[in-house]
Parts: sequence; structure tokens; C-alpha cells
Amino acid sequence: MDRVAEVADLVTVALDELLPRAEGPEARLTEAMRYAALGPGKRLRPFFALEAAELFNIEERSVLRAACALECVHAYSLVHDDLPCMDDDDMRRGRPTLHRAYDEATAVLAGDALQTAAFDILLHEDTHEDAGVRCELARRLSFASGARGMAGGQMIDLLGVRDDLGGVARMQRLKTGALFNYAFEIPLIIAGAGEAQRQALLSFSHDIGLAYQIVDDLLDVEGDEDILGKAAGGKDAARGKTNFVTLLGVDAARQRVAHLADQARNHLTPFGAQAEILKASVDFVLRRRS
Ligand code: IPE
Ligand code: IPE
Ligand code: MG
Ligand code: MG
Ligand code: MG
Repeated sequence: MDRVAEVADLVTVALDELLPRAEGPEARLTEAMRYAALGPGKRLRPFFALEAAELFNIEERSVLRAACALECVHAYSLVHDDLPCMDDDDMRRGRPTLHRAYDEATAVLAGDALQTAAFDILLHEDTHEDAGVRCELARRLSFASGARGMAGGQMIDLLGVRDDLGGVARMQRLKTGALFNYAFEIPLIIAGAGEAQRQALLSFSHDIGLAYQIVDDLLDVEGDEDILGKAAGGKDAARGKTNFVTLLGVDAARQRVAHLADQARNHLTPFGAQAEILKASVDFVLRRRS
């Protein structure tokens, strides 16, 4: 999708500006942070933040800075997710994972520093003139990243075998859904949106986030490693992970994705033609190969 690629470029340029330069005795760390954050990611969460912002009359600069903060947390989550003590992966975004390109200690520190860089960006006065808005942006990101969000979901994921769909759904909601939700929270907070708009966008986020993770789990089974840029070949099942694909099988998981996609599109009805690009992004999520 053209708009996804356009946002990816915009975000990469902005992140390049915002991240610390690789200088001084600590240059190895800042270089590693840049390797992780500036690599060829899809920037899908920033895309959702910026596209949802189009529904409101708000400044792009604020949304872009907050979207960059979100992307820093996402990049950190991937660096730690790939570590030998977690998923033990060698490839990410078509290149060696950070701990392979550098070493484990550097990868741990780069993840830590990317996480704090996110809050530095959010809390800087350039993000928004109202300190209350900046605080709320920071508070919601810390919630989405923490024990009741991404980190909590990663814990459940690592604990492995569960056989109930409800448990898996909750894990996905925390592990992936929480940061997806934050992408929509960004414009909702900045615009001071009302309850109806909030409900509609967060419902969309819920369905598209879950569909996104199920597609990721399908790609783990069916994906082409060269296009995907990371390991596939059923690595999740081999590691004892439980997800919708290991529990339901490929066909039922695909049906679930199709159902979530329909539901997601329906949540956008109140926004009419204004939400056309967001609506079209549902197909992008469904059809992605990388
Ligand atoms: C990978 O996220 C981890 C999941 C939550 C599925 P992305 O598929 O968004 O990864 P990048 O940022 O494009 O590399
Ligand atoms: C990771 O999920 C989600 C995160 C919060 C980082 P996965 O472990 O399935 O992501 P990939 O497949 O390594 O990108
Ligand atoms: Mg993982
Ligand atoms: Mg992984
Ligand atoms: Mg995966």
C-alpha cells in the first residue's frame, strides 16, 4: 500500500533525527539502537496512528513524534524477543538480529535505552504544548508496554503450553494488541476525542491487532523466510508455543482472520469515506507476506 510505504519513510527520517547520534565512548550502544530502530520495518503502528489522526483536526508533528516513541518501544520489544533467552532468533527484517550483529549485552542495553528514548521523546515539549497531554501520552504508553501490556503478554507467551482459546486470546491482546491500541490512543488523546469515536477506533484496533498476530502466526508456518525476513518453518510449534494456529490449525485460523477483518471494517462505518485508507489497510494486513 502506497500510504504505508509513505508513512514508513516519514517515520524513518523522523526517528533518524530523534535518536542519539553514534558518538562518544558509548557509540556502540547508540549505533546498536539505530540498527534496531532504523532497520526496514513496516512501521505499521505509526501508520495506524497517523491515519487515525486524519479523522481529527490535530497537528501532524505531535502525532509523528508520539508514533516514533511507539516505534522505539516496538523496536525494543523485537530486540529482546529475539534474544537467546526468549525466541532465540538469528534473523530480523532480513538482517542478523541485534545480538547476532553485536552481542547479547549490547542487545539488552539497546532495548533498555530504546524504551527510555520513547519516553524522552514523548515528554519533550516539542511533542505537545500541553503538559497534561504529554503526561497522558506517556502514561498510556507505559501501561501498554508493561506487565498488563506487551511485557505481560510476552511472559504468558514464554510460559508456553495452554490449551484454551480464551487464554491465547488474552495473551495476544497483551503481547501485540496493547501496542496496537496505543497507536490509536495517540490521536484519541491529542484530539481529546469523545466516547463514541474512542469506542469505534479501539474496537477496530482490537480486531485488526488480533488479526495481525494470527497472520504472523500463519506466516510462521507458511511464510517464505526470504520475503518474511525472519525465521519461519513452524518454529513457534517446535518451541512449544501456543497460538491460534497451533490450537485451531491453519484453515480455522484463516477463517478467524477473515471474520476479524470483516468486523474491523464494520467498526469504521461511523467515519464514512474519511476512513477509506484505514479500511483499505485491513486487506494489507490480511495479504502481507512480510
Ligand atoms: C512483529 O511485528 C511482531 C509482531 C507483533 C507480529 P511487525 O510485523 O510489525 O514487525 P516490523 O516492525 O514490520 O519488522
Ligand atoms: C512478538 O511476537 C511480539 C512482541 C511483543 C515482540 P513473535 O515472537 O511472534 O514475533 P516475531 O515472529 O518474532 O516477529
Ligand atoms: Mg516471541
Ligand atoms: Mg519472536
Ligand atoms: Mg511470530
